[in-house]
Amino acid sequence: MNTILRIADTDVAFEAAPGQDVLSAALQAGIDLPYSCRKGVCGNCAGSIAAGQVHPLPGTTLEHPACAPGEVLFCRAAPSGEVTLAPRHWQRVDASARRRLTAKVFRNTRAAPDVSILQLRLPAGKRAKFRAGQYLQIVLPDGSSAPTPWPIRRRRAMA
Ligand code: FES
Repeated sequence: MNTILRIADTDVAFEAAPGQDVLSAALQAGIDLPYSCRKGVCGNCAGSIAAGQVHPLPGTTLEHPACAPGEVLFCRAAPSGEVTLAPRHWQRVDASARRRLTAKVFRNTRAAPDVSILQLRLPAGKRAKFRAGQYLQIVLPDGSSAPTPWPIRRRRAMA
C-alpha cells in the first residue's frame, strides 16, 4: 500500500511505493528536492520531518554530518504512514520534461584514477538539449544507475 507524503504548509501531496525512499518518490512526482549522490554520502538531501515517521532503508542510516538537529537524509528515509516533509528547498518540475535517451559509450578516457570522461553517442537525429549546470543520470542496461549524476559538457569540436 502506498504512503502519502505532504510538503508542510502547502497543498502538495504525493505517494511513495512500499520501500521507496522519500527523495525518489518526490522526484517521481515532479517535486524537485536538493540531492546529489542518492546514496547517503553527500548529505545534500537533508531535510526535516514535520509530522509522521520515517525509517532508514535496510543497511543505512538517516543521519549525516550535514544534517541539522532533527533532519534526516531523504534519500535514505522510507516513510511509515502519512508523513509531512519540511525540506530545505523544493520546487515543482515538469516530470514530462525529463527525457530518457539511449546512448552508446563512444569513448572512455581516464582523466585520473577515479575520474572518467565518457563521450556518449546518441542515435542519429537525437539531440540532448541542456542548460549549464545540468546533470545527466546514467542508467545501465540492468536498471542500476551511476551513484552520482554526471556533469554535462558539450563535446569539443574535432580538428
Ligand atoms: S542525495 Fe546524497 S546523501 Fe542523499
